[in-house]
Amino acid sequence: MADFLHSSYHHPILRSWSNSATLSLVDSLVYPVFISENNDCDESIDPLPGQRRLGINKLKGVISSLISKGLKSVLLFGVLTSLEKDEQGSAASSDDNPVIKALPILREAFPNLLLICDVCLCAYTSHGHCGVFTSDGVIDPKESMQAIARVALAYAKAGAHVVAPSDMMDCRIKAIKDLLQDENMINRVAVMSYSAKFASSFYGPFRAAAQSAPSFGDRKAYQLPPMSRGLAIRATGRDVSEGADILMVKPGMAYLDIVRDIKNAFPHHPLAIYQVSGEYAMLYHAAQNSVFDLQTVVMETVGGMKRAGADIIITYFTPQILSWLEEVKD
Ligand code: PBG
Ligand code: ZN
Repeated sequence: MADFLHSSYHHPILRSWSNSATLSLVDSLVYPVFISENNDCDESIDPLPGQRRLGINKLKGVISSLISKGLKSVLLFGVLTSLEKDEQGSAASSDDNPVIKALPILREAFPNLLLICDVCLCAYTSHGHCGVFTSDGVIDPKESMQAIARVALAYAKAGAHVVAPSDMMDCRIKAIKDLLQDENMINRVAVMSYSAKFASSFYGPFRAAAQSAPSFGDRKAYQLPPMSRGLAIRATGRDVSEGADILMVKPGMAYLDIVRDIKNAFPHHPLAIYQVSGEYAMLYHAAQNSVFDLQTVVMETVGGMKRAGADIIITYFTPQILSWLEEVKD
């Protein structure tokens, strides 16, 4: 699998991510975007102040103004309003999935924008878990990795440049790569693995935003134990051996030691860090309450992420950071 490398550099932004020495902060940033099934949707998200759920009719305006400030890449999440959620998360690969509808529109409107799709089932399953269950109620490893691979393929066919599985099902990178190879698309789509994703308390606001909270139990049997350095390295090594193009640590601020470990262990893969919803909300509210100045503290956090070894920074603060960097230029 690792013999196929074109996927890692088929797009100019992927090439810039492979070149740590000259990679700028602007080019490192990825902005997460919530796409609602309701085409005219433009609504604020209470637990994520400043972020919005957008329908496909509202996306272009928001994204084009960010591109004029230097935005290079978005990470797309779908939010369902009327599609039915079932036990298999079938809606994720449906033509009516808002992400699948948005991809061709975004590709046409913004030919240089790198389109990354989060691949998971939790926003599409009736139970809100990231995989598929067996009849006796545990994660079904084979069905889960195959379901994830089918969703990744659907995004690839709709025009995603990068698919980013966040589900944490075992061996889904290989399942995705095998399917892309079967479809002769192996060179056109990079796989950004959420390789060291921990079972964190910091995802709460996101689950409200994407309406993807589990209806029972928790994600501790598939997301990594927060204190396990060993499992973070093992999971990442496994994903590397299955052909992942880009690696990730998530959340960010509480896991910078893991970023450094993974950069040291796998120095030849671009490494992303996800400053997640709870981190965003925490910094936002603290700044609102005059605990500190938002710009200064956000730049300190992203600087620390770079120092720890991250090449790519996924953050809800991307619009502000782009504006702040523009001011510095003036
Ligand atoms: C879906 C997914 C989640 C996040 C990204 N993809 C939620 C989760 O795993 O529960 C979290 C992002 C954030 O908190 O900003 N699996
Ligand atoms: Zn999920």
